[in-house]
Amino acid sequence: MLPSCNSPERKPQPLLKPNSPESTVSRKSSPHSLSHPLSQAHHSLHPRSWLIITIFSLQLLLFLTARYLPFASFRRRNHFPSPYQPVVAISAPAIIDECSSGKVYVYNLPPIFNTDFIEKCNELDPWNNSGCNAVSNNGIGRPANGLIGLVPQNLTGAWFRTDQFAAEIIFHNRILQHKCRTLDPNSASGFYIPFYAGLAVGKYLWSNCSAKDRDYHGQKLLEWVQDQPFWNRSYGRDHFITLGRITWDFRRSKDEGWGSSFLYMKGMRNITRLVIEKNPWDYFDIGVPYPTGFHPRNDADVIQWQNHVRRRPRKNLFCFAGAPRGKFKNDFRGILLDQCKRESDACKAVDCGGRRCVNGTSEILKTFLDSEFCLQPRGDSFTRRSIFDCMIAGSIPVFFWKRTAYYQYKWFLPTEPSSYSVYIHRSDVKNGIPIRALLEKYSKEEVRRMREKVIEYIPKLVYAKPSEGLETIKDAFDVAMDELMKRFKGQEEDGFKWK
Ligand SMILES: *[C@@H]1O[C@H](CO)[C@@H](O)[C@H](O)[C@H]1NC(C)=O
Ligand SMILES: *[C@@H]1O[C@H](CO)[C@@H](O)[C@H](O)[C@H]1NC(C)=O
Ligand SMILES: *[C@@H]1O[C@H](CO)[C@@H](O)[C@H](O)[C@H]1NC(C)=O
Ligand SMILES: *[C@@H]1O[C@H](CO)[C@@H](O)[C@H](O)[C@H]1NC(C)=O
Ligand SMILES: *[C@@H]1O[C@H](CO)[C@@H](O)[C@H](O)[C@H]1NC(C)=O
Ligand SMILES: *[C@@H]1O[C@H](CO)[C@@H](O)[C@H](O)[C@H]1NC(C)=O
Repeated sequence: MLPSCNSPERKPQPLLKPNSPESTVSRKSSPHSLSHPLSQAHHSLHPRSWLIITIFSLQLLLFLTARYLPFASFRRRNHFPSPYQPVVAISAPAIIDECSSGKVYVYNLPPIFNTDFIEKCNELDPWNNSGCNAVSNNGIGRPANGLIGLVPQNLTGAWFRTDQFAAEIIFHNRILQHKCRTLDPNSASGFYIPFYAGLAVGKYLWSNCSAKDRDYHGQKLLEWVQDQPFWNRSYGRDHFITLGRITWDFRRSKDEGWGSSFLYMKGMRNITRLVIEKNPWDYFDIGVPYPTGFHPRNDADVIQWQNHVRRRPRKNLFCFAGAPRGKFKNDFRGILLDQCKRESDACKAVDCGGRRCVNGTSEILKTFLDSEFCLQPRGDSFTRRSIFDCMIAGSIPVFFWKRTAYYQYKWFLPTEPSSYSVYIHRSDVKNGIPIRALLEKYSKEEVRRMREKVIEYIPKLVYAKPSEGLETIKDAFDVAMDELMKRFKGQEEDGFKWK
């Protein structure tokens, strides 16, 4: 039933000659919505940028002033970033360099590395055109209907049926509009490679394709990049990429293994990868949040949603949304599902067998909104998108593996795990300690405090709807860019000390 392998080598397509950065400037942008005309790029400051600079300056002044106020009042005021800082009549705000960590240059790749996948989205996976839905709307997907009553009426337009593997498209679209993007590679301290590596391999995962087929695009991409004049400046150490699928999908060591061997290819060695699940032992992998359904359109959307989840009455102590792996004996998810079903007065179980939890149903969101805690065991890999679905709904995650979140998303989650989550060792659960009893030990006040922490971090876990981002609130993309550029800068100052 699966489509036969459309080997890229059996369908020869001319690979465009590498563009030098100079020639990309004059190149016509493709009609596809992803490619913004380069003329729109931020060469000169857009009025919005001035607004942002002004607000930022005001906030800095406020911060400097606030340091001299009693600590408690400063903290409270800044707990939830409000765009409406009541500061007026401060003269001559200092100009702050928003790109103090450097500028980023975005390669204009031949379309076979990105937009071609979108144009031929019906070939992306075997499930009835679901590939086209997944990549639509700049990676945000189709609007989510059926959330009426669950989501405040004026926020329904901020919810979408986003595919969990769409990060590489979302990042590409955002970075083209980034305030620190430069069209001059000479002035860049970071180089972004907008290759859709996840789509490139995802396409071949479900059919009988050879290792060579699965590696084709990655191989060609690295040949292309290493031919660029700015590659040799630091042999890839100032280059980065987003991988929309988990790191293990790109780490095939033998021909008969799963996925591609992209991350093991020589040219990838020094390239930093933003990826939804990282290998905790690889310095170049950086974990970023899975895309979820909530894409705020402005600061007000974020604040309204934070208030909504804070006020939501939660009738279940905990919940579990997942599918047991029936075939394995003692399957951990099966144990959780059993416990949850046994304690049905305290736990709500949603059985996600088949593709039931990915079809835009509101049941999952409702379950998280109704629960104080959500159980987050590992899935087929260590992480799952459900962590983010849960936290965005203001539910407190319960982890059983440290690699599920603590070792993954350092830039996006509080440093102190116990401030926002519960950790239960999996062997305690296997030895029969009831989860319910462990969770009931937390006082109302402790639960409230953890939830407040989860809510505080919601902005860092979501991807904004507008390509330019939100007004003042930094979302997951902004956090990733700020931290990454800081890291590149640090590397430069350290004189590239590498193992
Ligand atoms: C695809 O769609 C056809 C007809 O619309 C349906 O019969 C089939 O079951 C669908 N396949 C999948 C995998 O959903
Ligand atoms: C949405 O509704 C809330 C509550 O009714 C209101 O406070 C807010 O201003 C509304 N936002 C917009 C953009 O209309
Ligand atoms: C997959 O392809 C290989 C080589 O082309 C062939 O030997 C094998 O039987 C195929 N497997 C299936 C399940 O079609
Ligand atoms: C980069 O350096 C390698 C070897 O040092 C050389 O073969 C290659 O031609 C150089 N590439 C460019 C674009 O200068
Ligand atoms: C990666 O960086 C190291 C250290 O500078 C360098 O020796 C090596 O050649 C680089 N690897 C590649 C594939 O460029
Ligand atoms: C999704 O699946 C659930 C369970 O099978 C079903 O009740 C619901 O109608 C589906 N929703 C959509 C939008 O297809």
